[in-house]
Amino acid sequence: MKVEVEAGKTLLVDGPASVDLLSGKAEVLAAPIKRGNRIVVRHGKRLPFEIKSNATFEIMLGEGASYEEVEGSTIPENWVKAVNEIISEAKSNTPLTVMIMGEVDSGKTSFCTYLANVAIREKLRVAVIDGDLGQSDIGPPSTIGYSILNKCVKDLFDVDADNACFIGLTSPGTATTKVIEGLSKLKEEVERKEAQLIIINTDGWVEGEDAASYKLRLVETLKPHIVVGLQQSDELLHILSGIGNAKVYTVDSPSAIKKRDREKRKILRELSYKKYLRGAKIQSFLISWINLEGTLLGKGITPSRERMRQIESILGVKPWYCEETQKTLIIVLGRNKWVPEENLKKLEEAIKKRIKVFREGEESGLIVSLKDINGRFLGIGILQGIDYRRRAIKIYTPVEKGIHTVRIGQVKLDREGKELGVCTVFTE
Ligand SMILES: Nc1ncnc2c1ncn2[C@@H]1O[C@H](COP(=O)(O)OP(=O)(O)O)[C@@H](O)[C@H]1O
Ligand SMILES: [Mg+2]
Repeated sequence: MKVEVEAGKTLLVDGPASVDLLSGKAEVLAAPIKRGNRIVVRHGKRLPFEIKSNATFEIMLGEGASYEEVEGSTIPENWVKAVNEIISEAKSNTPLTVMIMGEVDSGKTSFCTYLANVAIREKLRVAVIDGDLGQSDIGPPSTIGYSILNKCVKDLFDVDADNACFIGLTSPGTATTKVIEGLSKLKEEVERKEAQLIIINTDGWVEGEDAASYKLRLVETLKPHIVVGLQQSDELLHILSGIGNAKVYTVDSPSAIKKRDREKRKILRELSYKKYLRGAKIQSFLISWINLEGTLLGKGITPSRERMRQIESILGVKPWYCEETQKTLIIVLGRNKWVPEENLKKLEEAIKKRIKVFREGEESGLIVSLKDINGRFLGIGILQGIDYRRRAIKIYTPVEKGIHTVRIGQVKLDREGKELGVCTVFTE
């Protein structure tokens, strides 16, 4: 349908929808819209089209999509002020690092996008590092990624990651150190690439003391010059008040935000996994040919026959497969096999090693990441199964070439990108 909107207004479009600008001028978060470029608004997303001169759009709405016109801009005035100050600072003090904080759906991604676009229009070399594991914009969910932008973007989801670091989980609670280390590594990388403005987005975990100490560790390690906190009232106060060495801007969480419930956020993640699994097929690798990370499997040796007999007699069942490292014995049982707890204890005492028990097939569905020989992120995949006897793994992935390392994560997915849960037995 055709929609005409006057200059000075904003057209808010809730996806799934596609929007074509037929005439006039409009911007999305400071990114100018070109005529003839169809813009896709994803399910669960809202894009604000700020009308700069009377405009006509062709809009197609998918199921549950809608649009509305509002007066003026939906970008808060204190965003504009903070962004202008950050840009002038970045021009004289490069590289300038800015970290964005705020709870889930506070406008973090939109603020990053707006800041990046204004900076690009001011000819700055901008890098966005996306530290939001759960609602990743750059790179698949469960990773943190970055991109050096060379043109304005309406949606950071549209840019490819230049590199990413796989965490394997979609919430940071049990992976804070990994996230902090990953972000530091990515920050060093964008510094080497001579970014002038480095924008670091963070996850929405802000409530409570643990979240605060994690966010403060992030600030201490990554040393941003500026922290921007997006809040409606004072939900970030306990974090922002503890920041010593960075300049802090507190800005509004826009009133035009459309909150997404847990289910919507899950659907958004599914869409994203799907994007990164497009074209996937099943491939097999011998464990000895690749570097398997994130698990003890493949790192040990097969116990001798005599040792196997000892294990079997104490356990009371014949394991499907065993592997032994210096400190751990990995036991893989058949699908429906079970060992009494006391037998495991006895075995632990007898061999003086930690014991890890998996069941055959339990690994299937785990998300994996694939890296090349230089540690560069190539993409994700889904572990389909381990053939313990042949020491081979099967992975469903679109990555075809240059696979050197496979890292096993903890999220379980089906091939459609649906999250089936979290499984920790495999991880080291
Ligand atoms: N100024 C704004 N005007 C209109 N919609 C907005 C604005 N800021 C954010 N939104 C929309 O609200 C939703 C949540 O914002 P987002 O930036 O993704 O938050 P976060 O990254 O903190 O989860 C998104 O669909 C986004 O497009
Ligand atoms: Mg976001």
